[in-house]
Amino acid sequence: MNNREQIVQRAAEVITPALHLYYPVTIARGRGIYVESPDGKSYMDFSSGLAVLNVGHCHPRVVAAAERQLKEFIHTGGVYYNEVSLEAAQRLVAVTPAGLDMLFFSNSGAEAVEGALKLARYATGRQGIISFTGAFHGRTLGALSVTTSASRYRKRYHPLLPSVYHSPYPYCYRCPFAQTPQRCELDCLRHLESILVSTIPPEEVAAIIIEPVLGEGGYVPAPVRFLAGLRRLCDQHGILLVFDEVQSGLGRTGEWFAADHYGVTPDIMTVAKGIASGFPLSAVVAGKELMSRWAPGAHGTTFGGNPVSCAAALATIDVVAEEGLREKTAAAGARVMERLRELAGRHPVIGDLRGFGYMIGIEFVDGKGNPNGAACNKVLDFCLSQGLILINCAPERNVIRFIPPLNTAEEELEQALAIFAKALESLR
Ligand SMILES: Cc1ncc(COP(=O)(O)O)c(C=O)c1O
Repeated sequence: MNNREQIVQRAAEVITPALHLYYPVTIARGRGIYVESPDGKSYMDFSSGLAVLNVGHCHPRVVAAAERQLKEFIHTGGVYYNEVSLEAAQRLVAVTPAGLDMLFFSNSGAEAVEGALKLARYATGRQGIISFTGAFHGRTLGALSVTTSASRYRKRYHPLLPSVYHSPYPYCYRCPFAQTPQRCELDCLRHLESILVSTIPPEEVAAIIIEPVLGEGGYVPAPVRFLAGLRRLCDQHGILLVFDEVQSGLGRTGEWFAADHYGVTPDIMTVAKGIASGFPLSAVVAGKELMSRWAPGAHGTTFGGNPVSCAAALATIDVVAEEGLREKTAAAGARVMERLRELAGRHPVIGDLRGFGYMIGIEFVDGKGNPNGAACNKVLDFCLSQGLILINCAPERNVIRFIPPLNTAEEELEQALAIFAKALESLR
């Protein structure tokens, strides 16, 4: 048995099978866009560690900042204040959309979503929550209640949180109302309004939660008109609009947050993943007026705002700002999209391409336009065999997420695109 097989077998002895990993790849080292296995095989990590390593593995400035903090103190446990967590909070609210200027730190994306739902219920005194089909907001019971990206995530966990309603996500390539972009009259928004007429009155809805770019559910950006319409609807009824930017945040889309592309500001935003380059850190961010309605002790945490994670977050934000990674990502993403369009022209197995910056979804279809998870898997396997790690998403696992670190060099990008092109050829 080789080293790789041994690790997989040992893991099967002690780590629950509930935890599913994408690939049987073991890493012993990660630097920049590369991970290396214990036997020295190198892979380009175009999964960015599940959309987390926006500045790559072990960016020297992130490592140095964390090391400095490790030597001072590691933990505060909500017992006392500290400078670095405070600075990270100030720095983070400086890059979230204007008006979102106060936060609560926690550790994971799901935890931030729990916090957002709790804040919305607490501040409004209402119970109802509306989310969208295909959404992924996390695995804890509250977050899972607003998650419908795959029924297997919810299987055997019912009953989930009550007073949660789901409305179709505006997934234009597979419009739930069989419309085309030319004929679109926002039936998805009308449907949501009909829920407020038929199922729960608006004055009982605390929040509408949405990923402005659907992540796990298939990498689908919502149309501008839809988000603008949601904003209006929420304003009209005093409903809080929550953007879950756990996956789309911190430069991934070529802006600090996807909200910046839309010119729509939510009342609450959840952030995690990319903000601390792999150190656990997340936040619920909202305006001061709303946050001030959350009474002292109404929410809490032992580990949230960990100073080492916060030091890493400060360095990560600095790197994204000082290395011009938003601008670079916007430009590189547009070039990649162009190249992928050329490939799609030659390979009808690619049914749709969409996204912003380096948050690109590549949807695989069969001859009838149905989801083609098998072809998508073959492409992923081929890429892995050539040293390129890409991962999929969507309920039928037929969408590749093209999410390299934002600081991927031109030559590395070319190399990855060449492997991807060969993978498509291998399907013929
Ligand atoms: C949009 C979104 N929200 C929440 C989560 C949950 O984050 P975590 O796995 O850190 O709990 C994810 C994870 O993929 C996500 O993509």
